[in-house]
Amino acid sequence: MWTYACVIFICASFSGFVDSEKMYSGYQLLSISKTLNKTQYDALVELQKRPRLDFWSEPSTMRTTDILVAPQDVSSVEVYLKNRNIDYLVSIADVKIAVEKDTKQRENRQGGMNWKQYHRLDVIYAWLEAQTHQNPRVVQVSNIGKSYENRPIKLVKISTGTYHRNPAIVIDAGIHAREWIAPATATYMMKQLLSVGLEDRDLIDSLDWYFIPVVNPDGYEYTHTEDRLWRKTRSKHSDEECIGVDANRNFDFHWGEAGTKEDACANTYPGPYPFSESEANATAGFLWTNRGRIKAYLTLHSYSQLFLTPYGYTEDLPDDYDDLHDLGVKAAKALEEVHGTEYEVGAPSHILYANSGSSRDWAKGVAEIQYPFTIELRDKGDSGFLLPASEILPTATETWEAVKVIGRKLIQDAHKTNRFGFLRYVGPIYSYSGSSQDWAREFADVKYSYTVELRDSGKKKFLLPPEDILDTGRETWEAVKVIARKIIDDRDT
Ligand SMILES: *[C@@H]1O[C@H](CO)[C@@H](O)[C@H](O)[C@H]1NC(C)=O
Ligand SMILES: *[C@@H]1O[C@H](CO)[C@@H](O)[C@H](O)[C@H]1NC(C)=O
Repeated sequence: MWTYACVIFICASFSGFVDSEKMYSGYQLLSISKTLNKTQYDALVELQKRPRLDFWSEPSTMRTTDILVAPQDVSSVEVYLKNRNIDYLVSIADVKIAVEKDTKQRENRQGGMNWKQYHRLDVIYAWLEAQTHQNPRVVQVSNIGKSYENRPIKLVKISTGTYHRNPAIVIDAGIHAREWIAPATATYMMKQLLSVGLEDRDLIDSLDWYFIPVVNPDGYEYTHTEDRLWRKTRSKHSDEECIGVDANRNFDFHWGEAGTKEDACANTYPGPYPFSESEANATAGFLWTNRGRIKAYLTLHSYSQLFLTPYGYTEDLPDDYDDLHDLGVKAAKALEEVHGTEYEVGAPSHILYANSGSSRDWAKGVAEIQYPFTIELRDKGDSGFLLPASEILPTATETWEAVKVIGRKLIQDAHKTNRFGFLRYVGPIYSYSGSSQDWAREFADVKYSYTVELRDSGKKKFLLPPEDILDTGRETWEAVKVIARKIIDDRDT
């Protein structure tokens, strides 16, 4: 079984380095409108079994299905669609030209990080390290694991560390290699957090942010050097002729069910077994270890302009779907206010198509993270994965407004669930409301925390006569000794 991707790989190994622009000459992107009935839908699913066709979006009765077609297949696919009365448009007549444009933009790239261009992994990683040097108290970079080809998978924590026990939000990007807008948007959000003004200071004081900006670094590099439209990891599992696994179908929750293909050459191949991919495994490991603190998990993808809630593997919705949906709608509204870009909110099985083994479903179903969303960024298929670099900034700025809504919701929720007054931020000064006793218990982890209201029970009140000092002191001392001895006991047992 061949897909176009395998063809490219084989060619590449025969002739050494191959420019990606050569490979896509004559390729067309066909877009099929969403008004499909069941018969037509089934016909698309059948069509998907053909080699070489790359479905940029899965067959769906709910929205456009985009198919990248190799030149030798264009006429037969067109006949196939016409025979079934399936309307389609040629949305990119020559993919080669789109890829070339993309390549030229990359050639003119200025050194260093910016959001006018897409960057190679080394530029992104160097920028992350530079941030830790400039803001060592706010930014920490670590590795959660290594990719198949041994590249580090970097994790960035951003928080002022002002408060103990902040809720945490995790944002990852680039699990699908060709979705370049995702890492670009993630790094933009980090930049915004590192330059927040006073009015947004709560975001880094009262919330801990974690970013995994490039989950699939091997695939990401491969899209820069060999094949701009590569999606999967670069792993090779024994006795498989095709390279790579769809890491976002590789999570161990209803793995290998809906929306996956057993064929190792397929773009949605879920892998030989769950968590076969170190990239998925490392992401899950981090989420699992911190699951109590992580209240939101946002995984950035492209394209389609959607906020997807769990679940993808079933049409059943999580119990708290209404909360998820509400928050998604609020976030989408904030996004739309920036440039008028419209997003839809819902569960994939309801508004898109079924998929299983995704990080989002796993985050809800296994790690029990309250708010997991897949955010499918711009656009709706005009450029698809080849979104021009000029759209990075508009995409990132609008998305950042949505993510801030989610961040603030977590801060609010944390205020509500803490019995005591919590820490309130008032301009540049912090004031504590709530009692010392509650604070000691909740923040400083003091096990036995009591407020001791001394004599009397109300007769003399604050005007307790000095004759009562000694008696009050003596009796209270007996009580305090009991507590002290209890602490000694606790230590010894
Ligand atoms: C589906 O739509 C096509 C095209 O309009 C039509 O030919 C076909 O009969 C329809 N099938 C069903 C089951 O409605
Ligand atoms: C997955 O992570 C676990 C725990 O960190 C580790 O023991 C295991 O080897 C990893 N598996 C893969 C395939 O990376």
